[in-house]
Amino acid sequence: MLKGKKIVLGITGGIAAYKSAELTREFIKRGADVKVVMTTNAIRFITPLTLRTLSGNPVLTDMFSLTKESEIGHITLSDYADIIIIAPATANIIGKIACGLADDLLTTTVMAKRSPVLICPAMNTNMYANYIVKENISRLISRNYFFMEAGYGELACGAQGAGRFPPLDDIVEEVESILTNKDLAGERILITAGPTREPFDPVRYITNYSSGKMGYALAIMAKRRGADVTLISGPSSLMRPSGVKFLQVSSAEEMRGAVIDNVGNSTVIIKAAAVADFRPVVFSDDKIKKGLGPFDFHLVRNPDIISEIGRNKGDRILVGFAVETENLVENARRKMIEKNMDFIVANDATLPGAGFQTDTNIVKILDREGGLEELPIMDKIEVADRILDKIKGSRSPQSSQRAQRN
Ligand code: PMT
Repeated sequence: MLKGKKIVLGITGGIAAYKSAELTREFIKRGADVKVVMTTNAIRFITPLTLRTLSGNPVLTDMFSLTKESEIGHITLSDYADIIIIAPATANIIGKIACGLADDLLTTTVMAKRSPVLICPAMNTNMYANYIVKENISRLISRNYFFMEAGYGELACGAQGAGRFPPLDDIVEEVESILTNKDLAGERILITAGPTREPFDPVRYITNYSSGKMGYALAIMAKRRGADVTLISGPSSLMRPSGVKFLQVSSAEEMRGAVIDNVGNSTVIIKAAAVADFRPVVFSDDKIKKGLGPFDFHLVRNPDIISEIGRNKGDRILVGFAVETENLVENARRKMIEKNMDFIVANDATLPGAGFQTDTNIVKILDREGGLEELPIMDKIEVADRILDKIKGSRSPQSSQRAQRN
């Protein structure tokens, strides 16, 4: 989602400066245009050539040696930026900005800013704990500057504590979030994700291939768009998205319990989880021995969570998913009507790049009025964005018509 975004990345003089090279790569990989500004001290830690190579743009270091002031002066940089990020940010740069000082290219760019500024502190633990630094951070937060918490752990100076460069993924996610319009603010969205596990002895269970990627993408995107998000997840190896209420469950019955507990407070429910329809009738406390003959396995129906929600959904928006291997649209439409959903997202598990485990999906979004929106293959995060557009559009149909026309 950073495609085409214009980022000014300010690097200041700390041992973590080398990590800004990796950060630059990450932004470029996501399609952003990055212009790097380095302070005099930053150049002692990492060479401008490295950043030039990674960003594909000239690196700006000195306010007074510009060959084309009209093109890359501080005012132009401020106008150009969709966001200014300072990473790593030393105690010195934070203090200078908090005091309104502007004595080099980075500080003058920040003083002339028109875009959001995200500051990622990285410094010695004692410096980070210093009240003067803390006061400067509070002052800047009160002036609408965005701050990342410094990471915790062993620092390059050997000290243990807070002061590490924040994790790259967290910085990128924060940038994505800052640059996303908060059009879902006020919505409380409950999302289920991942598979369920239905155990039949202490070491075995039945499950399905869901990784959780589709549901987690919805949670990340809904949070970026300003919604208050609760994510109920079956077993998944994915990182818990930051900034969402996260509830871990395992079986369908546990998932049902968590959904019922949280549904009352929600305005939208999206059920992307692949809930096991059946569970073993009997759970053996001891590992079942394989024996000699065939093994009879009896299953009982699990609660159909979405149907239960559908019966009492009130004015909540209920979105379900359907994974199918045949008659995709017919089956999905039938499920939507039977389970009283407002929309259903149909994905065909037989198509390459769709359904379980892939980073992409190919979906059709069906609504109760007979509408069908067919999306091409796209990243699950973009699919999530389009599903949320649909939800947003159903709240204010005129704005969605406008968006479609543009
Ligand atoms: O997790 P990934 O690897 O990214 O894969 C994504 C996905 C394929 C799991 C996802 O896109 C998807 O299609 N999820 C729903 C799969 C599914 O269970 O479909 P279904 O047709 O069996 O169920 C229909 C709807 O009823 C679903 O919203 C499901 O959450 C819900 N349901 C199903 C059974 C049940 N007992 N309770 C339910 O609430």
